[in-house]
Amino acid sequence: MAVRKPYRIVHLSDLHLTRTAGARRTELGVFSPLKGMNETFARVLATKPVQQSDLVIVTGDVTDRGDLPSWNVFWKTVKKAGLQKRIFVVPGNHDVCCLGARLPFKREGYRAADIQKAIKGLKLGGQATRFPFVAQPDRRVVVFGVNSNNLGNLTILSNAMGKLGYYQLVSLASKLHKYRDVPVKIIALHHSPNIPQVATAKKRGQPPMSALSRKGHQIPQEQRQALRLLCITHRVRLLIHGHLHLAEDRRVSGVRIIGAPATTEPLPGKGSKRAYQFYSYTVQGQGGRVRCELKTVTI
Ligand SMILES: [Fe+2]
Repeated sequence: MAVRKPYRIVHLSDLHLTRTAGARRTELGVFSPLKGMNETFARVLATKPVQQSDLVIVTGDVTDRGDLPSWNVFWKTVKKAGLQKRIFVVPGNHDVCCLGARLPFKREGYRAADIQKAIKGLKLGGQATRFPFVAQPDRRVVVFGVNSNNLGNLTILSNAMGKLGYYQLVSLASKLHKYRDVPVKIIALHHSPNIPQVATAKKRGQPPMSALSRKGHQIPQEQRQALRLLCITHRVRLLIHGHLHLAEDRRVSGVRIIGAPATTEPLPGKGSKRAYQFYSYTVQGQGGRVRCELKTVTI
């Protein structure tokens, strides 16, 4: 069999773009929230690893507040960077959920309104708006996009919780079966399907989350277990997510799970140039191997 050209994927996440350039990111309990995300995003897209990629996947929180002008900033920047035809996007909680509070008697109406917000933004760039979506950009690669958001949340306290839903999981199972012969299956969602408990986090050298904070950011146990079981039974190569703004690369029951850092958030440091990180996945040969790298760009 002829050797095929490597297929390069870049994984970005949690851009938190704002309608105006100088606006600050919504961050609870932070004295001086981050700003400048729009400009950073444009500069990251201009870097060599992104420009040379065959595909860009964004795992949610494209916008900070889910408003259409911020989605416009996103698509304008993507277009300017020449990436509009090679990008897949799934929404995050900041793109859909309520960041304030609302009355408790209209949950269904809120759910519909929440997803509509993301649909409007996704449609601007010709993206899929039904979840899970499936797309096969290369003979060796298939991407399943999952909506993991807690639509219809009533307060800011539950805006970051995850939810997959029974019917989305059933549909995902059937799509995974349909594409069973594609060697590299990637599932992309916003929420982490596996937030470690305190002891495991410490062992991995990452900041531990309290039980309360885990509950506030997690997909319910039976749903995340079902997702991981699907990954095992269908030999999913990569389960990729964002949401926690943390670079994480781990294996859980044989499934490789990769959490992207927030692309527009610099690494700690001073000076005029700042470093930013994102993952890249290179599919090699016929799809037998996928090389995963955490890339650092200084801009
Ligand atoms: Fe985020």
